[in-house]
Amino acid sequence: MSTYGTFPGARPRRLRTTPAMRRMVAETRLHPAELILPAFVREGVAEPVPISAMPGVVQHTRDTLRKAAVEAREAGVAGIMLFGVPEDAKKDAAGTAGTDPDGILQVAIRDVKAEVGDELVIMSDLCLDEYTDHGHCGVLDSEGRVDNDATLERYAEMAQVQADAGVHVVGPSGMMDGQVGVIRDALDQTGHEDVSVLAYTAKYASAFYGPFREAVGSSLQGDRKTYQQDPANVRESMRELALDLAEGADMVMVKPALPYLDILAKVAESVDVPVAAYQISGEYAMVEAAAANGWIDRDRAIMETLTGIKRAGANMILTYWATEVARQL
Ligand code: PBG
Repeated sequence: MSTYGTFPGARPRRLRTTPAMRRMVAETRLHPAELILPAFVREGVAEPVPISAMPGVVQHTRDTLRKAAVEAREAGVAGIMLFGVPEDAKKDAAGTAGTDPDGILQVAIRDVKAEVGDELVIMSDLCLDEYTDHGHCGVLDSEGRVDNDATLERYAEMAQVQADAGVHVVGPSGMMDGQVGVIRDALDQTGHEDVSVLAYTAKYASAFYGPFREAVGSSLQGDRKTYQQDPANVRESMRELALDLAEGADMVMVKPALPYLDILAKVAESVDVPVAAYQISGEYAMVEAAAANGWIDRDRAIMETLTGIKRAGANMILTYWATEVARQL
């Protein structure tokens, strides 16, 4: 009597016996062409500035940003997501530097475009928090609340100046209602029909953004809970997804990644546009900090987190390890 369907006939360990066997039956593979490097560029510095909460990541000068873009391209990375860090003196309540054609982000887009052209997908964060003196992602009303519709007008202007600078993809990350539609209209009305919108669709109010605040020199007091989502919610993400698709999102994103793999899997199952996941600053910091203490194997942990994110359904992954990992693949 055969027992092929049960032990001792059935032995799953047979397929784990050698590295070659394990490689052959692996269901998930990472590829450099799905990795996107987020990068910070700081105005008015002569040397890159280390970010203490993100060991190995810096605020680039214009020059070192160009070099980082070239390195990413040489490693086969898909794209670069740019964040501008203006001089403190240039921050104001309206985030004016975000719509200045010579603001740091616009300058950086032009620099990277001149350096790598269309060989990397050049993306830009479309949000006001890097440029406002209060640190919120939008402009405030007379009572100090983030004013949704007034913020949309600022986002429309940002979309135009970023597109004028030559960006391929804008990434609205402010979680204002209606932002994708307003940005799509602004792009279309200014001759930028070919610029894509990567919508931060499910973006949660997360403690894991902590190191990012240092990365962009943010002065935020309070929190973003009136515009970013409650970590407790799933259905809310499906509603945000439906709205973003109806407003014309070309790609959608879930953020953070690791604590929200269930959301990522659900979004990935239900759409026919590419899905991105953002492995954010705090996710990076956790692994680096534990590894620095000798508590985990850094390289294995990095690959395991990225494999998990891909397995859950991401087509693209934004990760601060993009260039390093692409070189290893
Ligand atoms: C908003 C923005 C944030 C991040 C990307 N875009 C910060 C926030 O929403 O508080 C976080 C990225 C990271 O933590 O790595 N401009």
